[in-house]
This record gives sequence, structure tokens and C-alpha cells, in this order.
Amino acid sequence: MKLNDKFFLIENKQSRNRIVLAPMDSQVAIDGFVNDIHIQHYGARAYGGVGTIIVEGSAVTSEGRYREKSLGIWKDEHIEGLKRLVNIAHSGGSVIGIQLFHGGAKSQLKEQTKSINNYFDFLNQRNLKILDLKEFYEICDEFVKAANRAKQAGFDFVEVHIGDGVLLSNLLIEELNTIITSKDIEKRIEPIVYILKSIKENIDIRVGVRISVNDENPDGIKVTDYKQIISLIEPYISYLHVSGGDILSKRKSTIGAENKVKLHRLNYSAQLIDYTKLPIITCGNYDSKDEVKQALEKSISAVAIGRALIANANFVMTNLLEPNEIDESYHWNNNPWYKHQDFYK
Ligand SMILES: Cc1cc2nc3c(=O)[nH]c(=O)nc-3n(C[C@H](O)[C@H](O)[C@H](O)COP(=O)(O)O)c2cc1C
Repeated sequence: MKLNDKFFLIENKQSRNRIVLAPMDSQVAIDGFVNDIHIQHYGARAYGGVGTIIVEGSAVTSEGRYREKSLGIWKDEHIEGLKRLVNIAHSGGSVIGIQLFHGGAKSQLKEQTKSINNYFDFLNQRNLKILDLKEFYEICDEFVKAANRAKQAGFDFVEVHIGDGVLLSNLLIEELNTIITSKDIEKRIEPIVYILKSIKENIDIRVGVRISVNDENPDGIKVTDYKQIISLIEPYISYLHVSGGDILSKRKSTIGAENKVKLHRLNYSAQLIDYTKLPIITCGNYDSKDEVKQALEKSISAVAIGRALIANANFVMTNLLEPNEIDESYHWNNNPWYKHQDFYK
């Protein structure tokens, strides 16, 4: 695998390289709406050479927002602004998807938040409603409606977040799942399968999922659990995206990106290759060409980069690609100003 390979993360759209912009909540939306700050942020990274953009966790219901100013996709009025994001990303040469998000008890809002357990009480939740199964499935339907809005906005794919302790991830862990009390992961995961299957069957848009691959905790999720999990969701999805974080974040892991450990999810991500033929994205503290290469050498399909791309919108072109790798699929070759670079000669 080479960093500048043209490749298909999703089946119907070619990405110009193997670098993905990790979804990162930019906390600047009012009532969930896209504004000029989002346009310049995503536009700059598209024109900066990112192959595939995953737009930040976008709430499928208002109380599913991570924080007050998180982006939203819970009402039709959001579609118009989201279209602008899609347009600027496409004109900059990136494939673009959007992460569908419900924070569950990890949401930190003034309004009532919703979960299926009290595990995250360390976040000082004062106004938390515990959902029953019927109410939970109502939120699942909101994921499907949100995917439909993403389709209308022109996104190439959606990413359903089932890691990092957010609402859907709680289904996977026996201790956190109070609505389907079964030892069998095939039962516990049913609402997630329902969402993925409904999107696949009813909406013409590709779907990926973001997972937390190992909590390094005896009660938590283990990479080996994904053998079964993947077999259950694989028919409906296009890729797997390994997050930097854990689900059981109360019992702190020592290997997270926050501990500045480099490539901390790489071996887990590579283990997933034995369980699936789907492309795998890895993530977590990549900020050099050499580190990206190490992941690709393990046959990982793509590397998602977060903070290094916040710091430098042109990181792909300035730090990862050689000048001769920047072909006509990149902004600078399409840009009319570039064509006049010999103006002063
Ligand atoms: C400001 C910020 C916001 C984030 N928001 C999200 C999000 O909305 N959804 C998500 O899955 N991960 C989110 N993350 C996690 C990133 O996608 C990524 O996994 C993490 O930053 C590790 O990658 P990095 O070391 O390259 O930054 C966020 C991270 C940061 C720094």
C-alpha cells in the first residue's frame, strides 16, 4: 500500500490517496447548522489534499449532540448547509462522508440527555433519561432518517459511530446494555444491525462504522470480539474505522492517544484484517510520513489524521506527499493561479 495510491474506501468513489480527515467536532454550529467556519475548515482540508473527509460527529437528534455547538443532521433544514460542505469538498478533490452521532450519556448539554445506563455518571449528568427498548429503536430510526438527509445533501457515504462510549457503543458491552440483557453479542447488537440494514436497503448511500477496538480492560470490548461483530455487520457496510478511544473510558486505558503513545491502535487494527476483506482505517496520533507508512506496510487501507490536520490544513501536501506525487487530482494543478505560476518569469 502506498500513501498516494488511488483507492476505493467506498466502492463507487475513488479517493486520490489513503489519508482521511478524522471526524472532529468543531463546536461552532448554532442549532446544528453549517456556517462559514465549517465551510472554510473542510474546504481548506479538501484543497489541502486530503483524500477522504469524514465530517465531524453530526447529531441525529438534538439531544444526541456531543455539546451545545455540535453539528446537526436531525432536521431537513440542515440539508442546505450540508450541501455547501459537500460542494466545497468535491471541488477540492476529496471524497466526503459525514459521521452520524448520538452521544448518549457522553453528551454534555443543558437539555435532557438519553442513555441506557448510568455508567457515565462521572460526567456529572444531572438530567439523564434512561431509555427503554422501544424508545431506543425510535433513536435508531433517527439514524436512518439522518442517512437519508446525508444522501439528499450529496454525501458519498455516512459513518455510523459505534465506538468511544457513545450511545450505540453501549450495546456492545454486557454491563452497559440494560435494554437487551443477553450474554450473546448477536442479540445485543441487534439495534445496530437494524440501523445498518435499514440504511442499506432503503437509502442509496454507502455506510462505514467507527469502532473502539479494544478497551484494554477485562470488562470491555476486545479485538477478538470483532470476529463475530464484523460477521454480523459486514453485509451492510463498506469499511471499518478504528477510533483512537475506548468505550469504558471511566477505567482509564494507558494506551490512548491522550497518553501520547504513538500508533497505539495499529496492531489491533491490523488484527482485524484476519476477520474481514473490508478496507480498514486506523487512527491515533499520526503526524509523520514514516508513521503513516508503518500503518500501510501492515496492509491497513487508510490512515485517519485528526490534530495534525487541525494544525496544518495542507499537511498532506506539505508533510506527506512528494511534489511529484501531487498530480492533477490536487487543487494546485487545477487552480487557475497555479497555471499562471510562470507569470513573473
Ligand atoms: C477536537 C476533537 C474533536 C473530536 N470529535 C470527534 C467526533 O466528532 N467523532 C469522533 O469519532 N471522534 C472525534 N474525535 C477523535 C478523532 O477523530 C481522532 O480519533 C483522535 O483525535 C485521534 O487522532 P489524532 O491523534 O490524529 O488527533 C475528536 C478529536 C478531537 C481532537
